[in-house]
Amino acid sequence: MRIVDLIEKKKNGECHTRQEIKFLIESLMDGSAPDYQISAWLMAVYFKGLVEEETVWLTEEMIKSGEVIDFGVLADSIVDKHSTGGVGDKVTITLIPLLAAAGIPVAKLSGKGLGHTGGTIDKLESIPGFNTRLSIEDLIKQVNQINVAIASQTQNLTPADGKLYALRDVTATVNSMPLIASSVVSKKIASGAKNIILDVKYGSGAFMKTPENAIELSKLMVNIGKQLNKSITAVVTSMEEPLGRAVGNSLEIIESIEFLKGHITSGDIAELTYSFASIALLQVGMFETEDEAKKYLKDIVSSGKALEKFRELVVAQGGDVEVIDNYDKFDLPMYKVEYESKKDGYVNNIDAYKIAYACKLLGAGRDKKTDPIDYSVGVYINKKSGEGVHKGDILYTIYSNDHEKTKHAQKYCDEAFSINSNKPSHNNMIYKIISAEED
Ligand code: URA
Repeated sequence: MRIVDLIEKKKNGECHTRQEIKFLIESLMDGSAPDYQISAWLMAVYFKGLVEEETVWLTEEMIKSGEVIDFGVLADSIVDKHSTGGVGDKVTITLIPLLAAAGIPVAKLSGKGLGHTGGTIDKLESIPGFNTRLSIEDLIKQVNQINVAIASQTQNLTPADGKLYALRDVTATVNSMPLIASSVVSKKIASGAKNIILDVKYGSGAFMKTPENAIELSKLMVNIGKQLNKSITAVVTSMEEPLGRAVGNSLEIIESIEFLKGHITSGDIAELTYSFASIALLQVGMFETEDEAKKYLKDIVSSGKALEKFRELVVAQGGDVEVIDNYDKFDLPMYKVEYESKKDGYVNNIDAYKIAYACKLLGAGRDKKTDPIDYSVGVYINKKSGEGVHKGDILYTIYSNDHEKTKHAQKYCDEAFSINSNKPSHNNMIYKIISAEED
């Protein structure tokens, strides 16, 4: 078998056999296939696609390229959640202590931000001392001790995805449905959870631009899960505008802590956190109805138990727990500049991609995996969609360490806001829920 023949075959839109996919991943892993051949194959897949059967095989081969975590007796109750990537998306940080406090073990492997999307690991690392580089043994131990752990994707899990993802990132082949599906599902299965919730985002800040594409991707991932014996629920959610008000690493942690303290800064965070958490409670059979589950979860937040669990998590992973009560303990930016609305009206839309771009210019994101990031900078959205503004009201705030970058970011933020005289109708964050049972 030769890689060049596989490229030719895919270029002509033909389907691979299982043996061919196996050969491709083995050649990627042992280094016998050079990057240029794998990249050419990725581009052929980008244009010609993979049928579901090929995507399942690719997922299986990527899982086999590394270890699979075994949580032993806990395995059946462990829950994992993954987002396909968004802007201001801090729901993992609000969700995992809540679930753990509700009695559900959570083992979360997260990634760093890439492209315009933020990463949970970067956000957590803005807490001084917080260590996300846990070994698989430490991850399992911590879940057994305090019901929750969060770690960066290790080298040992789905290394084939790591290699493919790095090549996709530099060959403009990230947003291919079968490649995203196999990448996400292989990682989730290797992480050892039986119950998986996928937040599949659509909109200007997401890889999938329309709800229809997000639904297609969701169905594909749920079906792969079914064939590989995992319960996957995909929730199609809007990423037309940033989630919550804060975009930027420490700013997002602060907004998450506020949620755990019972202060709702933005309804979309509460809507998604309680919805995902109640899906998890139903998945593991703790409750029969969403209403019962949500009531129980809201009590956990108002009683302070979710915040306590977050404190335990920060302590267990070596972070400075004082940040929770004193936000000045985070690295602070040099400037905080408030920008006013130039007209009266209602905010109708805030383009998530443009806000993300502004944050990246400020230094909150990276272009390459190895770039350093500035945890302290970002954008705070003072007025969200649907809110009324008067000329002179503060629309957004830029946190920055560089005057020139601030001016540059301002241009993108100004462009991101659309304000007009009509109050927009409220749209639910959740567009559709797709699970194996309903399929
Ligand atoms: N998230 C992933 O883990 N992989 C992708 O391909 C896209 C988003």
